[in-house]
Amino acid sequence: MTDEVAARIDELRDELRAHDRAYYVDDAPTIPDVEYDALLAELGRLEAEHPELVADDSPTQRVGGGFVTTTFAPVTHRVPLMSLDNTFERDEFLGWAERVRRGLAGDGEAPPIRWACELKFDGLAVSIRYERGRYVQAATRGDGRVGEDVTANVATIADVPERLPDGAPEVLEVRGEIYLPVSEFDRINAAQDEAGKPRYVNPRNTAAGSLRQKDPRITAQRRLRLWTYQLGEVVGGEVPTSHSATLAWLAELGLPVNPLLTVVDDPEAAYAWIAEREGKRHDEDYETDGVVVKVDALAQRDRLGSTARAPRWAIAFKFPPEERTTLLHDIEISVGRTGRVTPFARLEPVFVGGSTVGVATLHNEDQVAVKDVRPGDTVIVRKAGDVIPEVVGPVLAGRDDATEPWAFPTVCPCPERSTLVRADGDANTYCVVPASSCPERRWQGIAHFASRGAMDIEGLGEQTVLALTRSGRVRHVGDLYSLTVDELLGYEGFAQLSAENLISAIDVSRSRPLPRLLFGLGIEHLGPTGAELLANRFRTLDGIAAATEEDVAAIDGVGPAIAASVARWFADDDHRATVSGLVEGGVRTDIVETDEVEPVLAGMSIVVTGALEGFSRDGAATAIKARGGKAPGSVSKKTTAVVVGDAPGAAKVTKAEEVGVPIIDEAAFVRLLESGELPASAERATD
Ligand code: IVH
Repeated sequence: MTDEVAARIDELRDELRAHDRAYYVDDAPTIPDVEYDALLAELGRLEAEHPELVADDSPTQRVGGGFVTTTFAPVTHRVPLMSLDNTFERDEFLGWAERVRRGLAGDGEAPPIRWACELKFDGLAVSIRYERGRYVQAATRGDGRVGEDVTANVATIADVPERLPDGAPEVLEVRGEIYLPVSEFDRINAAQDEAGKPRYVNPRNTAAGSLRQKDPRITAQRRLRLWTYQLGEVVGGEVPTSHSATLAWLAELGLPVNPLLTVVDDPEAAYAWIAEREGKRHDEDYETDGVVVKVDALAQRDRLGSTARAPRWAIAFKFPPEERTTLLHDIEISVGRTGRVTPFARLEPVFVGGSTVGVATLHNEDQVAVKDVRPGDTVIVRKAGDVIPEVVGPVLAGRDDATEPWAFPTVCPCPERSTLVRADGDANTYCVVPASSCPERRWQGIAHFASRGAMDIEGLGEQTVLALTRSGRVRHVGDLYSLTVDELLGYEGFAQLSAENLISAIDVSRSRPLPRLLFGLGIEHLGPTGAELLANRFRTLDGIAAATEEDVAAIDGVGPAIAASVARWFADDDHRATVSGLVEGGVRTDIVETDEVEPVLAGMSIVVTGALEGFSRDGAATAIKARGGKAPGSVSKKTTAVVVGDAPGAAKVTKAEEVGVPIIDEAAFVRLLESGELPASAERATD
């Protein structure tokens, strides 16, 4: 038994050392933090159960993997930089707080304890030294005892003062975290995209890579930032007696201190703050991976002391991971309602960012090429908050030499096996067969017809549409209007009540206003606003069908692309049959509401860049202005949101990221036009 444990301990140590090297030396971690932490925790547990197997050089006994690289000169820390113990669960956290309490109680009663809670910044630890008020040195953590000299590079960081005000101690060494703001990370990646270069994986690694540049001018371009949170060596001056007072003092000295510090009187309140911050972890323009809770009184800290690796007076409560690695089984393509073909990753399901992810979009051919992900790769999957899951990139260390770059298929997976076409200058690939011959496009078109922005048929979701089209019962949207309760009962998931409800929802949709009906038909480029303009001009569906391309193009706010597409749509026999089916089914085609639209965008300024599916450039501007908003041509600090379509202008996107303006997609734009509200995840980044 002990042999087995010893073997497992050896294995864990080897594995952790390899990961340490990848993380600390190569700035290219091979597994996400959470998996590393799990291995380290397992090793710690085994060593605790078998103290005879503990070794001085075990990863549990060392900080920073024990690595010192030779690129930069070594710096010996006069006061070692320690690591932190981690926890992931409330009970474990409260258990730690209880141990602290008992440790301070000794044989008597525990004294009052104040708990300082602050964010755990996901960056790189640094120690910065001032002598006689002048910046003299900066060093990385290294193994905690010896770090690397990064004085020239850290000097380029605007947050790092060159001089401290009069009255600063003779020697002041301060510790903190260097980080790359998320907006800055996005800006750098936008530039990578533009240059056709691979994207950086995450802000932390990019910060690490930026700091360890041999040429400090490159570091300077990356606009790194700093939060300080701890004193190192201090000579010739009084220091405050608590952590919170220390931070206030550092701020007075002109050093950057994060404003979100919260000091509470009991561990339950600390836990409440942890939970609150977890919910808000994307509100700030920097990444955090948890909360650090520290005993506030320095005298109490001294009494608690440290282990070889970490202080007993602090703990890091880690948030659930937003990045995990998993196997990329295959890259497949799917065809959307408009014929656009989108590659997506089929993944070994993995729990990340609060849900299980088994598929993730890869957007288009270029994205796959830039990320260079290949079937069989181990990939990093990221899901942050309510954003869609993303394949960040491959873990190259695990790649099988035999893999080949993925090639975009040349034929559509639809039964027609038609050729896929990607036009010059277009990022997207399309399947060219008409929607009527493609079952995929057909059911998606029907689902679009029933969707909220169109005919709003409650209870007719994608699964039901799929079942109805697969059985052959519904081929055109008009077929929906002859469905009966009895028929629906033959489909899985329907009971008497749900079937009756759906039939009545279908009935209600017979009297939807013409713009909704038009939008529901899924005419390429025709969005809700264009549909409204057409309905107002021609009043009936027949009128629109009879209009010439020129008539349509003559409407203010309707561009030539929409006009051509409308004309093409009504010229198609299959589409004419669809319209007849709707009329036969009792759908009204002549209801035009002339109500003024509500000025929901009053005071807002919305910039549109790139091609949208449902709006021409002018159409989008007209829709914004009709609702009281402004639609200027460039982005500024005052812009409310930037709507990004296909092939957006890089300058606008970069500027939006720079000044923290929310960037939204077309679906969010449609909702914005309806409600005047931005999605919760698109709140303006605060600095
Ligand atoms: S205190 C002795 N506070 O997390 C305690 N560390 O996992 C020293 N970190 O090495 C660390 N945010 O690089 C502290 N608010 C914070 C932090 C923080 C991030 C990093 C730091 C440390 C690592 C430990």
